[in-house]
Amino acid sequence: MTMQHQLEVYVRENRKRFEDLLGQMVNIPSISMDPAKANDMRRMATLARQVLSDAGAEAQIVETGGYPFVSAGWMTGAHCPTVTVYNHIDVQPAQEPEWQRDPFVFQNEGGIYRGRGATDDKGPALSVLFGARFAIDQGVPINIRFLWELEEEIGSPHFGAGLKHRAEVPRPDSVVVSDTIWIAKGRPAMPYGLRGIVAARLTLRTGSKDAHSGVTGGAARNPLAELMEVAQACVNAKTGEVKIPGFYKDVVKPTKEEIESFLKSGFQVKRFKEAYGLHSLRTDDPAEVTRRIWAAPTFEIHGLTGGYDGPGIKTVVPGHGELKVSMRLVPNQTPEKVFDLLKRYVAKLNPNVKVEQEGMYLHPFKGSFDGPYVECVKRAAKAGFGKEPVLIREGGSIGAIVTMQKVWKVPILFLGLSLPEHGYHAPNEYFDWGQASGGMKAFAHYFSELAKMENR
Ligand code: BES
Ligand code: MN
Ligand code: MN
Repeated sequence: MTMQHQLEVYVRENRKRFEDLLGQMVNIPSISMDPAKANDMRRMATLARQVLSDAGAEAQIVETGGYPFVSAGWMTGAHCPTVTVYNHIDVQPAQEPEWQRDPFVFQNEGGIYRGRGATDDKGPALSVLFGARFAIDQGVPINIRFLWELEEEIGSPHFGAGLKHRAEVPRPDSVVVSDTIWIAKGRPAMPYGLRGIVAARLTLRTGSKDAHSGVTGGAARNPLAELMEVAQACVNAKTGEVKIPGFYKDVVKPTKEEIESFLKSGFQVKRFKEAYGLHSLRTDDPAEVTRRIWAAPTFEIHGLTGGYDGPGIKTVVPGHGELKVSMRLVPNQTPEKVFDLLKRYVAKLNPNVKVEQEGMYLHPFKGSFDGPYVECVKRAAKAGFGKEPVLIREGGSIGAIVTMQKVWKVPILFLGLSLPEHGYHAPNEYFDWGQASGGMKAFAHYFSELAKMENR
């Protein structure tokens, strides 16, 4: 039997086991941002350690000061190169009313795997593990390690603390990450960049309680109106242009080659709108859309709260209001500088508004788009899915990536398995066997390509 044929057989024979394990993982609501889920987070770490050690890897839970991460691996030989695989096994909340069933009861509908976290990022995590197991069984001369994080969806606040000076988490020769999406089904993408992010809460209190708007309105200040004024001053809602002075100063524009490569990626505005349910965009020009989502910074308003939003209209002047915002960042912006610009600008606009940093504090990431590692990813995707990936950047953020780059200074490569329609962070999230099985094959090849290259 050829290796290719053995791999086909291995993948087919392991389908049931993969589905069973993914079910167990999806059934734990590991929502890192929900303090009420602390117990489930521990259960998730314990299950993950079990899954990894059942696969034959030596696995442990590494404490960080926040939620732990799980570190595991096979030691094939001290002389062999080491690769660390990164995934996360915490998930987003799932309270959207559009869910057609319980998001934390796994459903397998003939190879469609439904549930929160199925595609972001539990399904890809398991797919890589199965591909790795095959490579190890084949005697591929490589040390494969796993890093499964439980705080990714809150900006990886303790990841660095867990990584530094820990014997359990040795520095590898390279890192591969499976936590990104393709352009479309049949169109693999290999990002070489991620945006950073910095988030803030803007609060304004103008009274000790809500007051009758007939009795006080006209004289009383309205905190929601004032916060909206601040928001207006920060961003042009029509164009998206950020109006904070100095905001664009450190931005490095994508090169002409990058824009061309974005355009050649197969990205289609129409499909993009469909996948995310967007009725219309600020622009329909594909070069502009890709530049905006992958290579330009943003100012986003996530929520404005205060006053009354129940049925009917309650005639009050609210006593306080809160605006939740975040800014996506691109090279060479830094969260420190940008947050400071926002804070100083808001102080000038409205000195009563309090600006507080809220968790997420991530630098943008830029890796390389050529060289031997990139060639390995290309060959692996081609072997697993029959198609070479296109090189793009991603608009999302992964905190741990920036930390690993800073601490380890090794190449970081991306081989994502998710599709736009799988619905990252969306209601009715799913993953599927096509992506899982192709992913197992692609990663099995990736590890043997790496071994070939690094052992040379
Ligand atoms: N997997 C995503 C990151 C991502 C999104 C990569 C889209 C490629 C395309 C990750 O799980 C995520 O959602 N990250 C958060 C981080 C934030 C909460 C600090 C994000 O980007 O919003
Ligand atoms: Mn993710
Ligand atoms: Mn996510």
